[in-house]
Amino acid sequence: MRRATTFLSTLLLAVMLFAVPGALSPAQAQNPIQADGQNPMGARPTADSVNEEFLFKQESKIRGRVSIPDGKSANLIQPQGREYQNFRERWLPWIGALTILGMLAALGAFFLFRGRIMMEHSQESGKKILRFNAFERFTHWMTAVCFIILSLSGLNYIFGKRLLMPLIGPEAFGAIAQWAKYSHVYLAWPFMLGVAFMFVLWIRDNIPNKVDWAWIKAGGGFIGKGHPHAARFNAGQKGVFWMVAGFGAAMGITGLMMLFPFALTDINGMQVMQVIHSVIGIIFIAGILAHIYIGTLGMEGAYDAMGSGKVDLAWARAHHDLWVEQEQARTASGPQLKGHPAPAE
Ligand code: HEM
Repeated sequence: MRRATTFLSTLLLAVMLFAVPGALSPAQAQNPIQADGQNPMGARPTADSVNEEFLFKQESKIRGRVSIPDGKSANLIQPQGREYQNFRERWLPWIGALTILGMLAALGAFFLFRGRIMMEHSQESGKKILRFNAFERFTHWMTAVCFIILSLSGLNYIFGKRLLMPLIGPEAFGAIAQWAKYSHVYLAWPFMLGVAFMFVLWIRDNIPNKVDWAWIKAGGGFIGKGHPHAARFNAGQKGVFWMVAGFGAAMGITGLMMLFPFALTDINGMQVMQVIHSVIGIIFIAGILAHIYIGTLGMEGAYDAMGSGKVDLAWARAHHDLWVEQEQARTASGPQLKGHPAPAE
């Protein structure tokens, strides 16, 4: 009887194996799961204890156990990381390309439509007035040079692997990317210092007031006739100043959080910092492109202010009439009449 049962069960097994080829995967064949969901090794592969979804309901990440002091290394899976990766790899390059190319296209269209804003000559043409002293110019150019290198090295984080590496090859790209990273990390310091200096130097002349509102209503001179009044900085320049102060601070704070990982925030916080840093960085670059345009190609006579520091008095009177009056009152003994030539400084 016992022999017959053994024979029959062997026959049944053989039929099953031939009739359903491949029904059992090799892994299952080696590690068959028993009716209670447990395999012979004692693991429960179908149980909730290894179900990711179930684990995420309990906690926001999956952790193991480590005996080294760095407890962070026990994190095995952190789903927010995938959202961050999706932003970093898919959305960010598009946001960057559209914002920066959009600004370049807008500036190109503006140049075609308006052309260069030329100097208007008057009897004051040829006389010079000091607009920015040596320390102000040094601060400006230190900040500007750092900003340009920070921008290029920052854009390399977003676009380098996609655009530059296929062109120059992985070896050269690796070397450039390494230098870009060093310069990004080290030039952040003089940049932050420069923004802090600018803030202290120019805040007094950048407090918004009623004159700015009139300047905005006149579209900076594009709407209506003549130039709207402006003191040392017009409303557009005050916008640049506050953008530099606000975005500069935001870039500095978020950058420092990433430069000193885990000092003030955890991995999620650092990912949020990176998102803020990259999005503000892109808008900052687009804004400064407009500033560079107006300071060079866009307006004749503007560059001298940051080049030699002195501008043509006729230019200054046209664009910053209230400032010229203040300067003339300040540098001469007693207030001077409007239209009076500036004292030689
Ligand atoms: C090649 C790059 C740059 C050029 C050619 C340039 C040019 C100029 C010029 C000509 C002025 C004086 C305008 C006036 O007479 O009032 C100026 C002012 C200023 N620049 Fe720049 N600049 C450059 C980059 C930067 C950068 C990167 C920053 C900051 C991140 C910056 C921040 C400022 C600020 C805050 C002012 C004072 C407010 C204003 O006039 O808009 N500049 N710049």
